[in-house]
Amino acid sequence: CGIIARIGQGEAADTLLSGLENLEYRGYDSAGIAVQNGSGVKVHKTAGEVSDLKSTLETRPHGNVGIGHTRWSTHGPPTDENAHPHTDMAGDVAVVHNGIIDNYDELRTELTAKGHEFESDTDTEVIPHLIDEYLRSATDTEQAVRQAVETLEGSYALAAIVDGEERVYAARKGSPLVLGLDDEEWFLASDVPAFLDHTDQVIYLEDGDLVVLEPDTYRIMDLQGNTRERSIDTVDWDPEDAGKGAYDHYMLKEIHSQPTALSNTIEGRIQDGEVTFEALPAGTFEGIETVQFVACGTSYHAAMYGGQLLRAADIRTEVVRASEYESASGPVDETTLVVAVTQSGETADTLDALRTGADHGARTLAVTNVVGSTAAREADEAVYIRAGPEVGVAATKTYSSQAVSLALLTQRLADDVAHATPADDRAEMLDTLADLPDHLEQILEQNAAETLAQETIDSESYFFIGNGLGHSVALEGALKFKEITYEHAEGFASGQLKHGPLALVTENSPVIAVSTGGDDEKTKTNALEAQSRGAPIVAIGPDDTPLTDIADTHLSIPETHPVWGGLLANVQLQLFAYHAAKQLDRPIDKPRNLAKSVTVE
Ligand code: G6P
Repeated sequence: CGIIARIGQGEAADTLLSGLENLEYRGYDSAGIAVQNGSGVKVHKTAGEVSDLKSTLETRPHGNVGIGHTRWSTHGPPTDENAHPHTDMAGDVAVVHNGIIDNYDELRTELTAKGHEFESDTDTEVIPHLIDEYLRSATDTEQAVRQAVETLEGSYALAAIVDGEERVYAARKGSPLVLGLDDEEWFLASDVPAFLDHTDQVIYLEDGDLVVLEPDTYRIMDLQGNTRERSIDTVDWDPEDAGKGAYDHYMLKEIHSQPTALSNTIEGRIQDGEVTFEALPAGTFEGIETVQFVACGTSYHAAMYGGQLLRAADIRTEVVRASEYESASGPVDETTLVVAVTQSGETADTLDALRTGADHGARTLAVTNVVGSTAAREADEAVYIRAGPEVGVAATKTYSSQAVSLALLTQRLADDVAHATPADDRAEMLDTLADLPDHLEQILEQNAAETLAQETIDSESYFFIGNGLGHSVALEGALKFKEITYEHAEGFASGQLKHGPLALVTENSPVIAVSTGGDDEKTKTNALEAQSRGAPIVAIGPDDTPLTDIADTHLSIPETHPVWGGLLANVQLQLFAYHAAKQLDRPIDKPRNLAKSVTVE
């Protein structure tokens, strides 16, 4: 979910609505705003997207203080009632919330016994009722909000407004919240793009922070009311980067911005044939024996890519789905480095795994796109992938920048970790990396993926296979395809196709075989097995891959070092998914049921 709050001179409603549009990547099941103008708190909310909310608002509610929310459902389906803001019975207190209140059931029971009546299925609704309950005995609203926050268990970023008060109250624990400071207005939001049009001056709030915004002042405190000093950061994202530009979709814009994003990722990190990260001076990883990657979704596939490179450097490596960390990781101790790979730095499953690793004594590193994100702040060190803001729910440029960052990190680790074997062709690998942005441009100029999408659009299923580095690329290709087309797509290690999935292969299920420019014999054999059952074969790889001998269609990638070939193949797969989804008229930037950043477990 995404939350926003605004206080300052002039009307709040339009600012809240445009802020919510910029936060929609966090959820788009339902949306709402509440505005306070001294004669009541006016709440407007609806199931659907922010555009639906806007069309229900014939005139904007009047007032200079307000809060807003765009929802990704957890407790209760997306209905008007379950949309935020939620209020107490009198409608004097309105609250927006991102996170999960674990003790909401017992709080609801207690409050119901005291006469409170609830209208929604959400956990959030207990919060305004709690504030209302404490207001009956508290000396002031600040005390009531503090008492309510102390009563909550679980995770939250929340903002509240109260009738008759020119103030916003907010608190955070476990869910992101950032304060934006303009000359004439203050903002609170789940993420910077919500107010980037207005200001680049931000304060990243921390767990346990309670904030009170007033028109000419803001206060950050702990729950005992002691002032907490926080520094002001300047965000270097350009508001232009956060827009769609001339493209039909954010996803297409982000696919096309990969050459620039990758140039930024690499910038200054290769010097005299060696890899340097400012935050990771030589010796940082001495004593590390095992690396554990924890990640979800697309980031997990980037982590698989990095994991394979680390193993090739003889570094013991595990790549663990973050939600399975407790049961699936090997032993963890102070010789373990837990690396959270997370674009947003806010994925709850990934943060949980990172914290579990730290609790067991592991050292921690975040590889993330978002400066000031929770992962960046909680990990011992952070490496920024510098892809720039990504808005499309389907991750594209951040995957490429993550994979390159992890490949560079491998070289840094190989220098520090005892028994590691740095790649003997490091110089050549790093040299060819400099050409990667140009190679990407060459792919972006082709229209082969679009043609392929047209030709295969009536297929029943799509299977993606690859081995070695191509395995994770095949998994990512299938994930991207299913996320935005809603068609059945699965990715497999090439050799696994015959162990079950082959039963699903027909002349109506193309097999997309990925070559990274390494050894493709295994992929070729398994593609042949599918071809002899009638499946059309699509080869994605360099012109000299043996896959072209058998493929019905070939999507070409430029020759490069095998370490980078998978990234180029992946861009073809991104374009294939995009054009297929476009033909099917899917809402590409906001696929159903998904959200870009899932801040609940
Ligand atoms: C969600 C998104 C995925 C993303 C995953 C991990 O599930 O829909 O696209 O890959 O979260 O996100 P992260 O921010 O941790 O990279």
